[in-house]
Amino acid sequence: MAAEPVNVNGFRELARQALPKMYYDFFAGGAEDQYTLKENEEAFHRITIQPRVLLDVSSIDLSTTVLGYNISMPVMIAPTSRHKLANPSGEIATARAASACNTIMVLSISSTCTLEEVAACCNAVRFFQLYVYKRRDISAKLVQRAENNGYKAIVVTGDSPRHGRREADIKNKIIVPELKNLEGLLSTNIVTDGGSNLDALVNWTRDPSFCWEDIGWLKSITKLPILIKGVLTQEDAMKALEVGVDAIIVSNHGARQLDYSPPTISVLEEVVHAVDGKVPVFLDGGVRRGTDIFKAMALGAQAVLVGRPVIYGLAAKGEYGVRRVLEMLKDELELAMSLSGCSSVKEITRMELDDHGKRQN
Ligand code: FNR
Repeated sequence: MAAEPVNVNGFRELARQALPKMYYDFFAGGAEDQYTLKENEEAFHRITIQPRVLLDVSSIDLSTTVLGYNISMPVMIAPTSRHKLANPSGEIATARAASACNTIMVLSISSTCTLEEVAACCNAVRFFQLYVYKRRDISAKLVQRAENNGYKAIVVTGDSPRHGRREADIKNKIIVPELKNLEGLLSTNIVTDGGSNLDALVNWTRDPSFCWEDIGWLKSITKLPILIKGVLTQEDAMKALEVGVDAIIVSNHGARQLDYSPPTISVLEEVVHAVDGKVPVFLDGGVRRGTDIFKAMALGAQAVLVGRPVIYGLAAKGEYGVRRVLEMLKDELELAMSLSGCSSVKEITRMELDDHGKRQN
């Protein structure tokens, strides 16, 4: 029986031991030199917190709201694909853990359980992540299915017109299973000449011409709120506001798309300034500690999302592992808030960082 990890990074080690190398590499890896992958975490390490003392922290309130939904902590589950490669229960285990922790799960369109199966297994608030396919009719059907099955928002990922170059997958010649949500709609049984089939799969399905103007089309086919995931600049934040999205997720796709794109925490404040409170801003990428969540909130994020830690928890210990990962982040955040003098998430402001809010971009 593996020892119980004391932090989220401990789950990474257990996942490494539990998974075939090909799958561990698929989950853990980033693009090309993996510069951004390292920086996503290290940029958090360069920010320090300025604690205030002798404030009443006898009761700490971590709850917050996301698009009107109350959640127990400012941490959501990022959309990540193919959970059955981590654990046979797949996204069902993840969704149940989200439900137990009273937070939101964003289900990846590339899930290994169908969106209907996930909807039926738990009462977590769920959002549905969308890549827009060349077959717009199929994308429209998926949005409709998400809406009919109680998903509360559509998360459009904007950073992936093509597949990032993940060299571990190429070396390992990974073959991924067919896309469950497309069964009966489009065959995704992609045969290769011995290499990874991921690139071919993305080229076959995804529409690289999908652009800002097309958000209008999406709005015409759904009443659900639309979040854009993958914004890293103030220019794109302004574009997102112009086309009328309901929220923005600052993300570089966990450093799996454009290597040498900036670590997300380093551009968060720029985006938050550009958005100027008009819509909520969320962040993902490299969040591994309660203090990381604290820093993101101090820089203006309303909440964060976590990707790999959830998969590591799932690979190591199934639903229980995902729950533990979420609980650990929550406990660490609560402690960071206590030790810095913040008794509610609203009290985490720019003033809590090392330079008392004087730092300019
Ligand atoms: C992802 N991510 C992702 N994003 C998305 O919009 N749709 C998807 O299907 C996937 N799939 C996916 C698979 C795996 C294995 C990983 C690691 C990531 C990106 C994900 O939503 C998120 O942006 C990052 O995972 C956040 O970074 P951390 O928390 O993994 O550092």
